Amino acid sequence: MKKIIVTGGYGFIGSAIIRKLIKTNKHILNIDSLTYASDLKSLPSQPKNYQFIKLNICNYNNLKKTILRFKPDLLIHCAAETHVDNSINSPYKFIKSNIIGTYNLLQICTEYYKNYNNKFIFHHISTDEVFGELTNLKDKFNEESLYKPNSPYSASKASSDHLVSSWRRTYGLPANITNCSNNYGPYQNKEKLIPVIIKNCFFQKKIPIYGKGLQRRDWLYVDDHANAILKISKNKIVNENFCISGNYETSNIELCKKICIIMDDKYPKRLKNIKSHLDLIDYVKDRPGHDFRYAINSSKIKKYINWIPKVEINTGLKKTINFYSKNYLK
Ligand SMILES: NC(=O)c1ccc[n+]([C@@H]2O[C@H](COP(=O)([O-])OP(=O)(O)OC[C@H]3O[C@@H](n4cnc5c(N)ncnc54)[C@H](O)[C@@H]3O)[C@@H](O)[C@H]2O)c1
Repeated sequence: MKKIIVTGGYGFIGSAIIRKLIKTNKHILNIDSLTYASDLKSLPSQPKNYQFIKLNICNYNNLKKTILRFKPDLLIHCAAETHVDNSINSPYKFIKSNIIGTYNLLQICTEYYKNYNNKFIFHHISTDEVFGELTNLKDKFNEESLYKPNSPYSASKASSDHLVSSWRRTYGLPANITNCSNNYGPYQNKEKLIPVIIKNCFFQKKIPIYGKGLQRRDWLYVDDHANAILKISKNKIVNENFCISGNYETSNIELCKKICIIMDDKYPKRLKNIKSHLDLIDYVKDRPGHDFRYAINSSKIKKYINWIPKVEINTGLKKTINFYSKNYLK
């Protein structure tokens, strides 16, 4: 694997993958259309083994030229519209980027694999949200779980997963699909739950928590996720699906309280007119169709390539808080 394309490489997960890849001898091309979710500060400007092209994956002709010119051995597909609330308000963008964009990549990559590089592998990054919600506290999703998406976001991601599986089977495109749980860490877009909690603590603003905050999520530190993706490629795994979890499940309200308590410890002097950041928690009207619980059993990836998450939640949250306080909260 010498040449790697990452789509959505200025996004949260894509940039974490590229920050690791640029330290190796690989050549990397980042294809990103630079939506609101991208962050140019997430990557160093000019590493020698890195190129960037501003390109929308819905632009078939330019995408084809770009891929055929670069001649990748691996394409890691992270580009997507990802914010569930935005998918409820404006679903069409999700249909375009997540479904049509993935279709374009699959068509081009299949032709490329058949005519130019029979060692090529496509890696599709997806989410546990495609499996819908768990309604009890004991089950976990795994690679055999049925697809039952509930939001326009998860439905568009489910569609893209199905396209990848069918291109693998019908056209023989070598492809892996990974479905991971909620990621957290540096460079996540400021609209997402953990950055909002940190930012609002920092500026002493109300922290909006949907419903009673009882929805449960399984949190994965983004560098652990990036390591899993790179380990799959290093082990030359082909045509597999893996579920990737952080093995730390909690309710949104418990997670929020955990962050507030870390902020109390770290920034006691910022507390004005309140005793604790916990006092900022504000329960707001629930999101429509809000899934109750996601949790993943990631024993398959452990068995295949001995990957387990390494970053423990308190360490991960402290690193994340340090990152936001240094970079965004001055
Ligand atoms: N963040 C999570 O917790 C999480 C969890 C599970 C799965 N995922 C999946 O991981 C992938 C990456 O997620 P993320 O959190 O890094 O997303 P993000 O929203 O932070 O970044 C997405 C990136 O893709 C780019 N992009 C969007 N549409 C594009 C298009 N049409 N053409 C080219 N570039 C485009 C954006 O500019 C941005 O840089 C997504 O497929 C997402 O579904 C994310």
